Amino acid sequence: MTHAQLKTQRAARDWPFKVKPLHPALGCEISGITLDEAVSPAMFAKVYEAFLDYELILFRDVDLPPATQVAFACNFGEVQIHVLSQYHGYKDHPEIYLLSNLDKDGNPSGKHPDRGTLYWHTDGSWKECTGQATMMYSEIVPNVGGETEFADMYSAYDLLPAAMKARIEGRRAIHNFDFSRTRRHGEDPLTAEQKAKVPPVAHPVVRTHPQTGRKAIFLGDHAETLEGMDYDEGRALIEEINLMITPPARVYSHKWAPHQCIVWDNRCTLHRATGFDEARLKRVMRRCTIVGDRPF
Ligand code: SIN
Repeated sequence: MTHAQLKTQRAARDWPFKVKPLHPALGCEISGITLDEAVSPAMFAKVYEAFLDYELILFRDVDLPPATQVAFACNFGEVQIHVLSQYHGYKDHPEIYLLSNLDKDGNPSGKHPDRGTLYWHTDGSWKECTGQATMMYSEIVPNVGGETEFADMYSAYDLLPAAMKARIEGRRAIHNFDFSRTRRHGEDPLTAEQKAKVPPVAHPVVRTHPQTGRKAIFLGDHAETLEGMDYDEGRALIEEINLMITPPARVYSHKWAPHQCIVWDNRCTLHRATGFDEARLKRVMRRCTIVGDRPF
C-alpha cells in the first residue's frame, strides 16, 4: 500500500472517536472516549483499526493503575511476562515492566534503569513469537529529556534503495537478547537461567505484517548478525541499515506528560528512549508487551 492509498483509507474510516495524526509518518491521538469505553468489544475493534492504520495510538490524561493497565493490554492479546524479573515492579502484576530511576527512598538514583532502551529496537524481537504491541504509561516524567522516539518501518522498507533491497532479499537476522543486553547494560547482564530461556532466534529482515499485509524492515538493536554471512559483515550491514531506516524526518518524538498511555505496533516500528539527567530528575514508566506471532 502506498502512502497515498493509506491516506485515502484513513480518511474513509468511520471512527466513533476523534483521531488526530501526530506526525506525517505515524501516530495518532485518540480522544472523545474513555479507556473503559475503548475496551467494549465493538469499540475495541475500531480502536484496533486505528492502531493498525497509524502504528501508534496515544491517550492523554488517563488514569491507569497497574491492574487496569494489564486488563487493557489483555484486549490486544496475551501479555508477556518479561524474562528480566528484576523489572517486575508489582508483585501482583508481573506483566508490568517498571522503568524507574528512583531509589528505595523515591529519589533519583543517578542510574538509568535500562540503557538498552536508548537504542533503536523493537520489543521482544529476540523471541520466537515477537512483540505485537507495547503499551506504555507515564507516571512521572522529567521536564527535560526522556522522550520516546518512534520510526516507521513500512516506509523504511519502501524507501530503501533498490541495491540494498537486493542485498537483504530473503535474508534472516539473528536476534540475540544476551548480545544487546551485554553490549548496552553490561553491568547487569542476563543470568545463566535467563540466558537459557532466550536463545538467539532468526527472523526475516523484511517481514510481512500479519494483519495489514504490508512489508516492514525488522531489525534494531537486538539483531546481532545475518544468517549465512560472515559475522563482521553481517554486523556492519545491520548497523548500516539501522541508521538508514531511522532518518530524523521520519521519526515521531513523543514528549511525555504524566498519565498518558501509548500503544505501539512492534511489527512495523522501531522505538528508543532519549536520555535525561538520571541524578536530578525522576522518570517512572510502566510497560506491558503483548505477544505477537512468529515473523514471516
Ligand atoms: C522501551 O524501550 O521499551 C521503553 C522506552 C522508554 O522508556 O521511553
